[in-house]
Amino acid sequence: MATRSLLLLCLCLCLFASRLCSSKEEEQLAAGGYRVARVAVDDGGRRLRAEAEAAAATGGVSSTGDVQRLAVYASLETDSRLRVRITDGDRPRWEVPQDIIPRPAPEDDLHNAPPASSTPLQGSRVLSAAGSDLVLTVHASPFRFTVSRRSTGDVLFDTAPGLVFRDKYLEVTSALPAGRASLYGLGEQTKGSFRLRHNDTFTLWNADIGAAHVDVNLYGAHPFYMDVRPPGAAHGVLLLSSNGMDVLYGGSYVTYKVIGGVLDFYFFAGPSPLAVVDQYTQLIGRPAPMPYWSFGFHQCRYGYLNVSDLERVVAGYAKARIPLEVMWTDIDYMDGFKDFTLDHVNFTAAELRPFVDRLHRNAQKYVLILDPGIRIDATYGTFVRGMQQDIFLKRNGTNFLGNVWPGDVYFPDFMHPRAAEFWAREISLFRRTIPVDGLWIDMNEISNFYNPEPMNALDDPPYRINNNGTHRPINNKTVPASAVHYGGVTEYDAHNLFGLLEARATHRALLRDTGRRPFVLSRSTFVGSGRYTAHWTGDNAATWGDLRYSINTMLSFGLFGMPMIGADICGFNGDTTEELCGRWIQLGAFYPFSRDHSAIFTVRRELYLWPSVAASARKALGLRYQLLPYFYTLMYEAHTTGAPIARPLFFSYPHDVATYGVDRQFLLGRGVLVSPVLEPGATTVDAYFPAGRWFSLYDHSLTVATKTGEHVTLPAPADTVNVHVAGGTILPLQQSALTTSRARRTAFHLLVALAEDGTASGDLFLDDGESPEMGGRSDWSLVRFSCATGSDGSIKVRSEVVHNSYAQTRTLVISKVVLMGHRSPAAPKKLTVHVNGAEVEPSSPAGTRYQNAGGLGGV
Ligand code: NOJ
Repeated sequence: MATRSLLLLCLCLCLFASRLCSSKEEEQLAAGGYRVARVAVDDGGRRLRAEAEAAAATGGVSSTGDVQRLAVYASLETDSRLRVRITDGDRPRWEVPQDIIPRPAPEDDLHNAPPASSTPLQGSRVLSAAGSDLVLTVHASPFRFTVSRRSTGDVLFDTAPGLVFRDKYLEVTSALPAGRASLYGLGEQTKGSFRLRHNDTFTLWNADIGAAHVDVNLYGAHPFYMDVRPPGAAHGVLLLSSNGMDVLYGGSYVTYKVIGGVLDFYFFAGPSPLAVVDQYTQLIGRPAPMPYWSFGFHQCRYGYLNVSDLERVVAGYAKARIPLEVMWTDIDYMDGFKDFTLDHVNFTAAELRPFVDRLHRNAQKYVLILDPGIRIDATYGTFVRGMQQDIFLKRNGTNFLGNVWPGDVYFPDFMHPRAAEFWAREISLFRRTIPVDGLWIDMNEISNFYNPEPMNALDDPPYRINNNGTHRPINNKTVPASAVHYGGVTEYDAHNLFGLLEARATHRALLRDTGRRPFVLSRSTFVGSGRYTAHWTGDNAATWGDLRYSINTMLSFGLFGMPMIGADICGFNGDTTEELCGRWIQLGAFYPFSRDHSAIFTVRRELYLWPSVAASARKALGLRYQLLPYFYTLMYEAHTTGAPIARPLFFSYPHDVATYGVDRQFLLGRGVLVSPVLEPGATTVDAYFPAGRWFSLYDHSLTVATKTGEHVTLPAPADTVNVHVAGGTILPLQQSALTTSRARRTAFHLLVALAEDGTASGDLFLDDGESPEMGGRSDWSLVRFSCATGSDGSIKVRSEVVHNSYAQTRTLVISKVVLMGHRSPAAPKKLTVHVNGAEVEPSSPAGTRYQNAGGLGGV
């Protein structure tokens, strides 16, 4: 008791003293905000706990509704991750559930148990630890905090005084160095530029607003950005919140306006862009491995008429000799648009099942769509079972009534512990009739054709986020915020989580039913969805703009830990044209997820329909299929380190500031550069090449970029997309084929693109392509290739199997090694091949032979 009085006395004296000496501070407090009353640092300086009081409680003018006492927890959770969590010191508030993003548990309530070492805070307190580049400074009065980089002194995040913390409105602003910060992320939005533009607002409230609408909130919520600053240091910032929010980016500041929950910030130190996504996905979960087949080409359409129509499409691809791996069917297959049913006339089991069996015999796959709305119909088994299990979302004590394609529906509440089991059973039952290989979950924002009337304050909160770019009510065309999930969780808080929860249930259902690696494609996503699902960019339009913008969304999802991403090739809405479709497949062949899809009542756009598009498809997809071992190795890298498959150029060249604004080109992995045509009528493309050597993957011609990088106008005739490999890269290639399984049976080639110093390296990951785990306890091999040039011009190519439990590895053959960029115009003086440390003869059973190709060496 005596200690407490003493503390209070100290606090009062201290506040008095600080009041005397700071009128500026008074002004700031008068504008609202908080003042730190107590602070404790423990755990060897890695954790800080503080209590902050609203300005009103300490003499300032507080606005009504401010939470009186804030608890601030900061922790250096790892050497590269700092967390600053600010919540109500007196009452628990909504936070993203632990089972969605498992993370260190929130600490004890600071207010109830002030640590013995707590002291009134004057000035500021620093949190730092040896080994960590992140330093946190907590300023006492007014309360604010700064995150800086120890090694450079760079201030990464610097909150302004005047933090607002009310029940339904939280606001915090951080200053940014306007000229130096380049921000990426904060989605999902269709943007005209990958680098975030100044004076832009990013609203995060999952909504069924077509992707053809630019600069508005779309299907997913990812409150994460990466900031890259010259001379090449990157860091990441996540506000882990599922509540609706507006994030205003003004160039010199970023302001978060959030309508609930807590302020739970995570800072990721980087300093390379790859390190940032590694650190980010370590927290939110690594991307799910995708089956090998899902890297093949997919064909879909909303509006396929019947099974014969599907047959004709599959035959059309075969006849045109264009690879087709996966055939899809949209809601057309259902009886009255009811999940887990088949149309009685056009998609009967008697016809569809043999069709799927034929696909399977031809090593092709089949994927179907599911929507969350379950039609209210007492004769419909899925509905009846859902009612028996009582797993539907509620409002006002009864099942909430929505309306989607099937008419009136109830929505499963995936927060309900029985809902995932219900879903898994329905999937399993349906798969006995139609053994689908993957599932496509659509409309899960949730999309609702009714506009629910407001019922209480949740439906119309005091701050209206900029929903749809017009401050539309948050209930617009979705489930109302006053709907209630299992455990009393309101839709207001959990809205942005539905897509993730449905994807998790679907992923687990497929895994259980098939025993194989699941493939799920979800439209709605949240932080961590990458653990369960791939994503496509939604309803774009068949326009040149949307062709271009697809690169921005693809690159953003790479940052969000969702590397399996693509856009509807040839455009979804509206009629495409031959030229647009031809250029789109040239880009889309290099999306990690490559699918042609279109809307009902629009012109058909299967790739074989126009001879010129078919030619482009054969050429571009032909290259994709040769690159499949590379794509798949990148999947392994993504799964183990979070590295995006499709990356912005600055990932490999962070020191080159000219790459920061490049979003008409992108990299696959470290060193394959795609430079597509994005304008009608163009026969050339202006490409940027960062410093180094670049070899065309089509003709092996060489472009050398100087130290400062090079802008080059490349020829791009109608059938050509420019794809280059960076010097220093070894690509493992196989032959193209009409399916991935046939391509996998061909011999390997090594394409060795030598850097200026005569070296190159690359990896190859191998497994059966469908085991649930990728790496880990399953059978897999990792082969590391490297190449070095001796001072006498001799070349040594090494292959080292660094992990080897995939039995088939022994039977794989590298039938050809192509060297690009060897200095000598003739063959190298001496060329040796080493496998696992031992030199092998070129005439060995591996049958290796050598070619020196490329601008410097000739073929
Ligand atoms: C909306 C999806 O975004 C689109 O891809 C699909 O074709 C339609 N729903 C119909 O299911």
